[in-house]
Amino acid sequence: MKQTKNDRGIQIRRKIKTLFYGFVNMWRHYVRFVRNGNYDYYASQERFLAMFISNYHVIEKGLAMPNFELGHTRDRVLLVCGDIVKYRELGFDTKNVQYQSALQAVDSYRRIHDEAGYKLDTELREAIDKALAGVDFEPHNQPETTCSEFFQRDIDFEKFARSRHSVRDYSEREIPIEELLHCADVARTTPTGCNRQPNKVYIVKNKDLIRKIANLQGGGRGFADRANAMLVITTRVEVFSYQEICESFKSGGMYAMNLLYALHDRQIGACPLVWNERKENDKKLRQWLGIGDNEEVVLLISAGYPNERFKYVQSNRNALEESVKVVE
Ligand SMILES: Cc1cc2nc3c(=O)[nH]c(=O)nc-3n(C[C@H](O)[C@H](O)[C@H](O)COP(=O)(O)O)c2cc1C
Repeated sequence: MKQTKNDRGIQIRRKIKTLFYGFVNMWRHYVRFVRNGNYDYYASQERFLAMFISNYHVIEKGLAMPNFELGHTRDRVLLVCGDIVKYRELGFDTKNVQYQSALQAVDSYRRIHDEAGYKLDTELREAIDKALAGVDFEPHNQPETTCSEFFQRDIDFEKFARSRHSVRDYSEREIPIEELLHCADVARTTPTGCNRQPNKVYIVKNKDLIRKIANLQGGGRGFADRANAMLVITTRVEVFSYQEICESFKSGGMYAMNLLYALHDRQIGACPLVWNERKENDKKLRQWLGIGDNEEVVLLISAGYPNERFKYVQSNRNALEESVKVVE
């Protein structure tokens, strides 16, 4: 019977291919990123919005936080007000859903402070007034819901998918490890290239460790440290060969989505958390969790049962046409 060859000569040739193609393929992504990455915000409406959304999202997120502090995110509101004015000056579409959402976030921020009798400083007040003066939009607050309304049972997939939102308000209720293992088991149904199954999830339940990871991550400030579980998604790089240098992230991304749905199905609130690749942070996380050098850290997910009543962020989506192109 013919065996797979793995003698020294063939190994060395494969190593050279891995070195060469790994570099060439990464280089192609790098060049595309340098050419197209978002550094000139004013070049187009799309580029402006990409920056704009991430700024106003901080405000809407803050408004839905369990312990929203009056006066908090002041600098971000100021920044977004400037962005709103600039957006109009550049002549971009003022009917755009993201522009409208930014107006709603700033307006909601002002209303919440007014209702609480909190005096915003003059600079901020003037900036808000200027941003919202004479513009047309529907006032909107971040939705408040109940567990039974949010986690509906026996619904079709479309309703299920539309009912999932990132949850950032966690109760102290313990998530049994069996439930998390069940979700990880369901997430294993994720398709993977040639069924090589590189995905893995580290389930962290230790509260001190959760806090440490949340502090390191940063983007979950104000809520991730209160999660009942922190899930760290990795992919094993060793299943990929020389033409597949970016596959780890695609594979882990798909797994993460499946895991988010599995958590939602078990009525566990969850929020994906970006894992930035700063070397010192990556090293610490790897040490704390025993993540091997053979694994790529893709994404974190904070999880917890919400309180009976809680708020979430609407996070409006762009129009369908912006994410679809039907090719005849
Ligand atoms: C890769 C990725 C990284 C994210 N990182 C963070 C984060 O660091 N902090 C946070 O609060 N939300 C984070 N989110 C959640 C997004 O803000 C959220 O998914 C988006 O606004 C859409 O809202 P939805 O999940 O409620 O549909 C992240 C989401 C993804 C997919």
